[in-house]
Amino acid sequence: MTEQPTPYDAVAYPAWIYPETEPSRLAAIARLHGLAAPDPAMARVLEVAGGDGLNMVAMAAAWPRARFHSFDLAPTAVARGARLAEAAGLGNVRITVDDLLDAAETLAGPYDYIIVHGLYAWVPEVVREATLRLIGRVLAPQGISFVSYNAKPGSYLRNAIRDMLLHHVEGVADPQERLSRVFALLEDYVQPKPGDSPAVAALRWTAGPILQRMPGALFHDEMGDIYAPQSLTEVTDAAARHGLAFLNDASPFMIYDGLPGGEVAEDEVVRLAQADDYRAATFFHQTLLVRPGRAPRRGLVAGCLDDLWLGAAAQRTGPGEFTGSGRSVEISDPDLAEFLDLAAQRSPERLALRPIATTLERCEDIVRLANAGLVVLHAAPAPFAAVAGERPLASPLARAQVAEGTVGLISLDLKGVAFADPGPRAFLALLDGTRDRAGLERDWAASGHGHEVPVAAALDHFAKAGMLLDADR
Ligand SMILES: C[S@@+](CC[C@H](N)C(=O)[O-])C[C@H]1O[C@@H](n2cnc3c(N)ncnc32)[C@H](O)[C@@H]1O
Repeated sequence: MTEQPTPYDAVAYPAWIYPETEPSRLAAIARLHGLAAPDPAMARVLEVAGGDGLNMVAMAAAWPRARFHSFDLAPTAVARGARLAEAAGLGNVRITVDDLLDAAETLAGPYDYIIVHGLYAWVPEVVREATLRLIGRVLAPQGISFVSYNAKPGSYLRNAIRDMLLHHVEGVADPQERLSRVFALLEDYVQPKPGDSPAVAALRWTAGPILQRMPGALFHDEMGDIYAPQSLTEVTDAAARHGLAFLNDASPFMIYDGLPGGEVAEDEVVRLAQADDYRAATFFHQTLLVRPGRAPRRGLVAGCLDDLWLGAAAQRTGPGEFTGSGRSVEISDPDLAEFLDLAAQRSPERLALRPIATTLERCEDIVRLANAGLVVLHAAPAPFAAVAGERPLASPLARAQVAEGTVGLISLDLKGVAFADPGPRAFLALLDGTRDRAGLERDWAASGHGHEVPVAAALDHFAKAGMLLDADR
């Protein structure tokens, strides 16, 4: 296609990664519902409107036998991501310039996982329709698609803030000027004032997270030309017209949307989740869609975690107490508490759940922990090494990021990790799989940083950060 500059070329959207889109997490949700899902290690993954494709590049570094494709309309973003993928030597990811309106008709499939993050509520109706047409056409029979969007009714409050911001910069064309005026307004607006009514207090509270946004995200998300939040029902009705059905939400905090339990009929599931949205003023969804007629199980049963792995996101803070993500949960089952403690110590490794999730009660406890954000469920073991191999090999993406001077490196666990100090950066650059321990000792000493930390301790540190690959993969 002929490449044309877009608003995303004028003001770059911040590159980021979205762990909740990782196929091993999506497959775990499908398996919780009793559905088979494509093996994440071998999957064909598509990201629609993926910007610079960093999300796909990060997954490609972790899963070398899976294949990834990200496309986007903005040539500048695509060129940036393609450069990084090439510098990392990743042959299993493609980042291309394509218009979704064309791709909906012409892109060849099938794909096992299709991710659409941060697009659906910010484009015209015709692009929303094309999104679902594309997914409906190229999603594999057992595939899963992830579509995120700002949701009703919570977004009505954000809409009020958006209107205020746009009013404030009416007639100001320069992007940087628009941003600096809007940030100045928000700085003042979020401060509570004497006599605030509950409604105004709610609006100030809504503006708080908007003030924290990266400028490029605020510029496009809250101040872009189109802001069209959707209700869950609007999305699932539109998806149904393209041969797609609701599975669940990918956010662990909404896991019961698709698992209401009891004798609920399939056509009641979305209605109940929608009612919940009204009660909770939900403002964001990460809706998972599958092919219709697959009859997902809508409640937990014994054995539903048998083929899953658990990654800990919490630490033991008392005999049965675990704390993470600002939440604490009390576990009265001592065997489960021991298991969670082990998982916390071995993190970021993932532990197989089959030996511990032996009863329905245990499954329910573990899903409650996932719902609280204290553990993460995966359908595959971690793709990175818990201990360094003979010739330690670090993530090719992290090494390429070091080479280009980036401080926030992406781990194989899809986390952003700040590595600013020259010593750790120099050590990481040595982990290219060519050096045995003796070679590492030698070159680390020669780097001028060798006195900072012994090689064994540095390797443990990088393994703990989810930065090392298994040598024999
Ligand atoms: C808000 S950004 C989201 C980027 C990325 N998915 C993320 O969440 O970080 C929206 C992206 O959609 C892309 N986009 C908008 N319309 C498009 C179209 N018709 N075809 C392909 N990409 C499109 C933009 O270029 C932009 O990169």
